[in-house]
Amino acid sequence: MQGWMKGVMGRALAAGDPDKLAQALTTVASKPVAGFSQWAAISAEGAAKAKGGDIDGAKESCKKCHALYQKKYQETMRDKPW
Ligand code: HEC
Repeated sequence: MQGWMKGVMGRALAAGDPDKLAQALTTVASKPVAGFSQWAAISAEGAAKAKGGDIDGAKESCKKCHALYQKKYQETMRDKPW
């Protein structure tokens, strides 16, 4: 997932492309992870904002999820396929 985040999410954000960002966040929302109860909700919220062209709003969802889950994911899920 780290590689996907860097390649797909990072690139969509760097390109400032709301469509790609919405697509990437929708993909994340469609793959909820057991035990990470806010995962899909945060992603869906970000995707909705990106769709509306609100890139700064979408970035909030990156921050929210990373703050809540990045560490936990690395500790418990890293070796699992995403
Ligand atoms: C619903 C959760 C979630 C959302 C939303 C999310 N991320 Fe992530 N992101 C993660 C997790 C979990 C990792 C850690 C993956 C790992 O290290 O195996 C990660 C890692 C990353 C990394 C790699 C950091 C590194 O070098 O280790 C980048 C870059 C990144 N995310 C960018 C983004 C951007 C940009 C957005 C928003 C547009 C975003 N992410 C939204 C969960 C999320």
